[in-house]
Amino acid sequence: MCGIVGYIGNRDCTEILLGGLEKLEYRGYDSAGLALVDVDNNIILKKALGKLVNLKEEFKGFKNECHLGIGHTRWATHGRPSVKNAHPHLDCQERFILVHNGIIENYEELKEELINNGHTFQSDTDTEVIVHLVEENFDGDLLEAVKKTINTIDGAYALGIMDIKDPEILIAARHGSPLVVGGNEDEKFIASDTPAILKYTRKIFYMDDREIAVLKRNSIYFYDYEGKKIEKMHRILNWDPLMAEKAGYDHFMLKEIYEQPRAVRETLFSKIKKEKFFFEDLKIDKERLKDLRKINIVACGTSYHASLIGKFIFEKVLRIPVDVDYASEFRYRDPILDKDSVVIVVSQSGETMDTLEALRIAKDKGAYTIAIVNVFGSTMSREADGVIYTIAGPEIGVASTKAFTSQLMTLYSLSVYLGEKLGICFESDNVVRTLKTLSPMIETVIDDVDIYKQIATNYHKATDFLYLGRGINYPVALEGALKLKEISYIHAEGYPAGEMKHGPIALVENEVPSVFVVNKSPLYKKVISNIQEISARDGIIISIATNGDNLIQKYSNKVIYIPEIEEFYSPLLTVIPTQLIAYFIAKKRGADIDKPRNLAKSVTVE
Ligand code: M6R
Repeated sequence: MCGIVGYIGNRDCTEILLGGLEKLEYRGYDSAGLALVDVDNNIILKKALGKLVNLKEEFKGFKNECHLGIGHTRWATHGRPSVKNAHPHLDCQERFILVHNGIIENYEELKEELINNGHTFQSDTDTEVIVHLVEENFDGDLLEAVKKTINTIDGAYALGIMDIKDPEILIAARHGSPLVVGGNEDEKFIASDTPAILKYTRKIFYMDDREIAVLKRNSIYFYDYEGKKIEKMHRILNWDPLMAEKAGYDHFMLKEIYEQPRAVRETLFSKIKKEKFFFEDLKIDKERLKDLRKINIVACGTSYHASLIGKFIFEKVLRIPVDVDYASEFRYRDPILDKDSVVIVVSQSGETMDTLEALRIAKDKGAYTIAIVNVFGSTMSREADGVIYTIAGPEIGVASTKAFTSQLMTLYSLSVYLGEKLGICFESDNVVRTLKTLSPMIETVIDDVDIYKQIATNYHKATDFLYLGRGINYPVALEGALKLKEISYIHAEGYPAGEMKHGPIALVENEVPSVFVVNKSPLYKKVISNIQEISARDGIIISIATNGDNLIQKYSNKVIYIPEIEEFYSPLLTVIPTQLIAYFIAKKRGADIDKPRNLAKSVTVE
């Protein structure tokens, strides 16, 4: 949460930094701020409440040439959203300027001490203590002051720090919050995430915890917290910067929904060689798997819903029990794991704090850890024993869509790969063939856009929605409900359809729509009965059914058809209508789809 960006170099950087913040706005948008040093050594500090457009407004007509600057987009934790709490923050002498992503846990003690030492605070944030500590610790050498400071603070942080009196240096530090450094010959960047700087450089260094970077126009040096120089390897990213643009769509979410045929296809193709599954970065051998008795999958939010589907997939293919946990619960429940356990963490960002901590706990207990992540070089991808990338490309919309379907594609592929390693599954050619048919099918489900618009027109004023499914489609119901509530703010609940009668059915009345996943499956007739239970109470029925199912018309107010597919693979199709229903309802309600209130894309705090 929160995004930071910084620049030092030969170009005029105001637009570069504002553009970078735009790419990071998915991380928070309660306020934004930018500090610049111009060529005459004037300091320009502007902040604005709310979204970045407000800050951009402040910069209208701004002409000063600047070669050094840091910016911030905020997701409020300590101190309500306001201009005074917006970053960057200054010390008492207004010499040091700082941006921060993370939480300083011991800030109250530090603040009290600093106030006793005569410091005056301007904001209610935890962050401000850091810049006062830099001031307190400064003795002519900024690196030394930063080093002393970060050895005093506890918590998570990615920092960017400038000294107005020395505009030839920019310092960054990381512990617990993501931070990348990038650069060309005569310019250097820092950012919370690569899309912020991808337009200018593809040469990226991923900072690790307890590292400091000293950036000058022509050099970058990395240090540990003891001040020892570290050699770091850079990577050249091949993400196309255009992937992080809206490309004519009204919203990133819609663009990302439309990208799903490509995303799942590329994810699948990246995992097959000669029609067999092949996982390049998964160094797991037969020996490691021979005593495998259980798999744990751990994730948050939409990734958790993909993991629940993963349980159905793995249990069917491998016949090994699978536990799925919310990362925020897993990390505190002292999970029973040992060296024979395999723990899979699933995350779009690869940075979600709870999931990352769960991964660390699993590693500490000796489990073999696998990270399924979308962001190349993310912390999870670097800390897990094995990594599998989904090839969704940058996902900017806060509501996750293409990451979800790419995660499913990965879970299908991985299950068969492990099954072959275990010698219990020899069907990979068949599975590959079926999975290849899914991308064009997704395309047809997306294309029938009128039905989603009609549903939005008819039901966007509803105050409650229910989402219901059974078996492998029960997690799709959970995902559909999450999608609707996060972007439209309509109360929605996802349930296994058979569970309705044990409580939630009390919510049903004539203005409550229930979205049923009722595709072809052995439980089809049972779901029809569940639909009838709701119809009998005047509820509105929207069904996601299989092409050719005419019977369902009789029981539904609206039917969305998906192509015929084995139930086992159907979540890759059934989830698409739930995304589009949420999108068009939110649009009809005039909601801010890509930046829903109170949310941030990457949740890097507990
Ligand atoms: O980056 P991650 O997949 O770890 O993120 C997990 C959740 O924060 C995320 O899926 C969240 O629930 C989305 N906003 C859902 O659309």
